Amino acid sequence: MRLKDKVALITGAASGMGESAARLFAREGAKVVIADILTDEGESVASSIVADGGQAQFMALDVTDEAQWQAVVDATVSNYGGIDILINNAGLSGAVPDRLDLAYFDKLMAVNARGNFLGMKYVIPVMQKAGGGSIVNMSSMSGIIGQEFVHMGYNGAKGAIRLMTKSAAVQFGKDGIRVNSVHPGLMPPMRSSVSSADPKLREKVIETIPLRRAGSAEEGAYALLFLASDEASYITGAELVVDGGAVAA
Ligand SMILES: NC(=O)c1ccc[n+]([C@@H]2O[C@H](COP(=O)([O-])OP(=O)(O)OC[C@H]3O[C@@H](n4cnc5c(N)ncnc54)[C@H](O)[C@@H]3O)[C@@H](O)[C@H]2O)c1
Repeated sequence: MRLKDKVALITGAASGMGESAARLFAREGAKVVIADILTDEGESVASSIVADGGQAQFMALDVTDEAQWQAVVDATVSNYGGIDILINNAGLSGAVPDRLDLAYFDKLMAVNARGNFLGMKYVIPVMQKAGGGSIVNMSSMSGIIGQEFVHMGYNGAKGAIRLMTKSAAVQFGKDGIRVNSVHPGLMPPMRSSVSSADPKLREKVIETIPLRRAGSAEEGAYALLFLASDEASYITGAELVVDGGAVAA
C-alpha cells in the first residue's frame, strides 16, 4: 500500500478528481477526510469508501472560510492524531460565458486562491509540529498558459496556486514539508463548468491535444497520489502536468 496509515485531508472530495483521489487514497491505506461544501455527496462518498473496507470521514468545509478551516484541521488532528497529506483540490471553474465579470473574478480568487492559501496556513503548523508532510495543490494547465474560453480570474488564481506552491516549498522545506502542484488539462467537466461542458467545444479542444482525448478523474488522482506519497520524497516545488501533452504542444 502506497499510503499505509497516512492521514489525508482532501478538499473538494465530494466529486470529480477529489472524489477519485479519496477513493484511491483509501484503497492505498490512508485515513481520508473528505472536506467539501456538498454535504450529501460528501457523506455518500465517505460511506461508500467505508463500505468498501476503507477509512473515511466527511467534514463540511467552505475553503474560503478561515474559521471552518481551523475547525476542520482541529477535528482531523483530534480524530486521527495529525495530518500527513493535504490535497488542496476544491475549485470553481473558469469556463464561463462572461469572461470579464468582476464578481466572478472575486469568487474565483476566493475559492481557488484564498482557499488554497488558507489550507496551507492551517495545515503547515500541524505538519511542522510532526516533523513533515506532503501538500499537493491542484492548479491547472490554466496556471501555466492562457486559453481562449477561460475567465482570466481562473488563470490568475491557478497561476497564484502554482507560485504559492513554490513559495511554500522554499519556505517550509527545512521543516520536512514538501509542496507540489498538479496541472490537469481537459478532464471531465467541473460542476461549475459552462463552456468546457459543451461537447462541440470539447471536440475542438481535443483536436489540439497530442493524445487526442480528455483525461479521466482517475488519471488526475494518480498524479496526486504519486506526489502525496513517499515515492516523491525528494520532489518539492515541482509542477506535474496531466494534460495529454497539451502544454507541450
Ligand atoms: N475538470 C477539469 O477539466 C479541470 C482541469 C484542470 C484543473 N481542474 C481543477 O481540479 C480541481 C477539481 O475539479 P473537478 O474537475 O474534480 O471538478 P468538480 O466540480 O467535480 O469538483 C470540485 C469540488 O470542489 C468543491 N468546492 C467548490 N467550491 C468549494 C468551496 N468553497 N469549499 C469547499 N469545496 C468547494 C465542489 O463542491 C466539488 O466537489 C479544481 O481545483 C479544478 O479547478 C479541473
